[in-house]
Amino acid sequence: MINKLNDRVKIALTKGRIEKSAIGIFERAGIECSQLKNKGRKLIFHNEENNIDFVLVKAADVLTYVEHGASDIGIVGKDTLMEYNKDFYEVIDLKFGKCKFAVASTNKNNFYKGYERKRIATKYPNVAREYFRKKGQDVEIIKIEGSVELAPVLGLSDAIVDIVETGTTLKENGLVVLEDICDISARMIVNRASMKMKSKKIVNIIDKISAVL
Ligand code: PRP
Repeated sequence: MINKLNDRVKIALTKGRIEKSAIGIFERAGIECSQLKNKGRKLIFHNEENNIDFVLVKAADVLTYVEHGASDIGIVGKDTLMEYNKDFYEVIDLKFGKCKFAVASTNKNNFYKGYERKRIATKYPNVAREYFRKKGQDVEIIKIEGSVELAPVLGLSDAIVDIVETGTTLKENGLVVLEDICDISARMIVNRASMKMKSKKIVNIIDKISAVL
């Protein structure tokens, strides 16, 4: 029993946007997790056959659980990995949850006019700061928690840095992409100690997932 618990692999999945694709890829790899599809308010699910626990948490918390070893493996977007500088192995680009980071603003707002310091609203202050630092452009970063597209419309900022997937949110709020920053997709991350202690089981999971990509 103790061995079984020690040997258990704990996997943290990001709730929301990439949840469905993450479940789909484990199922295609032959790791059953159908319970997660009819989950109600439950947050932890056990797969007896493979001795795996799945948990569903917010993106930034996936990193925290994996960094501290409370989860061995995490599935999370590259956007979150870029924003929070934490310590683990990034092992697979899962090729789903594809979107991009972009600078956007309203059609009318001429972001490139004038010499005053521009204000950038974003949920990703570190990504935005780093992008403009590399360009040598001095900007003021305003951190907001969501519905970022409103910021230039209401005059809170000159532009935003945000993720763009279909482009619908930008379009429906009268914003356009000014600059592409980089492409994003979901990644598998692994706790550094788990990679040594549970290497056989974790490598087996990595191989199964890689085989169906
Ligand atoms: C994200 C992002 C954009 C939108 C982009 O927000 O911040 O607002 O999705 O997707 P689209 O290009 O397909 O329209 P999210 O849905 O995570 O909600 P939030 O505004 O609460 O952050």
